[in-house]
Amino acid sequence: MSSESRGPFMRAKSARISSQNSPGQSSVIVHALIFTMQILITGAAGFIGQLLAKELLNDPSHTLVLTDINEPPIPAGVKYPQNARTVTVDLLRGADSVVDKSLDAVYAFHGIMSSGSEADFDLGMRVNVDATRNLLEALRTTCPGVRVIYSSSQAVYGQPLPEVVTDSVIPTPQSSYGAEKVICETLINEYTRRGFINGFTLRFPTISVRPGRPTAAASSFLSGMIREPLNGEECVIPVEDRSFKSWLCSPKTLVYNLILTLSLPSNSLPPHIRQINVPGICVTVQEMMDALVKVGGEEKLALLTEKEDSTLRPILDSWPTRFDNVQAISLGFKRDGSFEEAVRDYRLSLTQ
Ligand SMILES: NC(=O)c1ccc[n+]([C@@H]2O[C@H](COP(=O)([O-])OP(=O)(O)OC[C@H]3O[C@@H](n4cnc5c(N)ncnc54)[C@H](O)[C@@H]3O)[C@@H](O)[C@H]2O)c1
Repeated sequence: MSSESRGPFMRAKSARISSQNSPGQSSVIVHALIFTMQILITGAAGFIGQLLAKELLNDPSHTLVLTDINEPPIPAGVKYPQNARTVTVDLLRGADSVVDKSLDAVYAFHGIMSSGSEADFDLGMRVNVDATRNLLEALRTTCPGVRVIYSSSQAVYGQPLPEVVTDSVIPTPQSSYGAEKVICETLINEYTRRGFINGFTLRFPTISVRPGRPTAAASSFLSGMIREPLNGEECVIPVEDRSFKSWLCSPKTLVYNLILTLSLPSNSLPPHIRQINVPGICVTVQEMMDALVKVGGEEKLALLTEKEDSTLRPILDSWPTRFDNVQAISLGFKRDGSFEEAVRDYRLSLTQ
């Protein structure tokens, strides 16, 4: 990524660099301009925050503030762990404490996921809406015009939907989580139109294969049905229909698209329409099982149980299963080649 393409976000810092010399040579000290970006990640103890931090901390041009209500770890094995600091704070009360005027960009990932927001309306509204508004207000006051990359979701859409969702389909969410995301998308549009921030909203597909444990997302099984069997554990699939389709994106491709968004020119979208549907691929439960068999072997299927869940099903059925990503692709976003590749990536990660 060239420094020019990052435009106004890059910050030049003069640094003293002393070179390693061979014996007998005098030491050389040079002054160089190092371009760095100061980036805040909220929800940084979570899955996507950690994934992104890991990638950004392998590049010396990023310094990170990682914040979460739970203490965010600095990802292990990165090249520049010293370029990150962590702040443990509830964004509902402490948004001001993580924002300062040196920030060049913010990834807003904090949140309560879909099942969690459906189970506890007040908690979902407080964290997903009120805390995001608090953050935006703090940014508006302290670092106006800062780039904000907000994590929205395909859950903003609800039925009825056309077979292929285009950028002009109006979101009609059928979950509290989706409704909360639409509220925040509108805030991002409005704060950008007013010049308070320079926002982009990325509507993520379901991310799979996600490492770790099952989550409070209705989509949790879309990772679990691969991850658990590959780890020798059982997983319940809450739909009995193997032709059930989902719109998925691998962690690797998501991180690529998140980093790309740092350098998108502001005027690549109108000031009052900042949403981008992040590219995904449409995969059925049967195709996911097939990928599991190819990567993990036939015997892994014995660890899967199909059992209809009448609470989750209406949420799952309300989500779109196919998008026309022409806008995102024209902006340079990538799409996965196949789901099998995502399964192979996950299996490889178990050995690293
Ligand atoms: N993972 C996916 O498949 C997916 C899909 C679509 C959208 N998204 C969105 O991407 C974002 C990140 O997702 P994730 O999978 O990493 O979620 P996650 O649940 O792993 O992480 C969310 C983090 O937010 C933190 N948090 C909760 N309340 C907070 C508060 N009051 N103050 C500060 N931090 C708080 C949690 O501690 C957690 O670490 C979320 O906003 C989510 O809605 C994720």
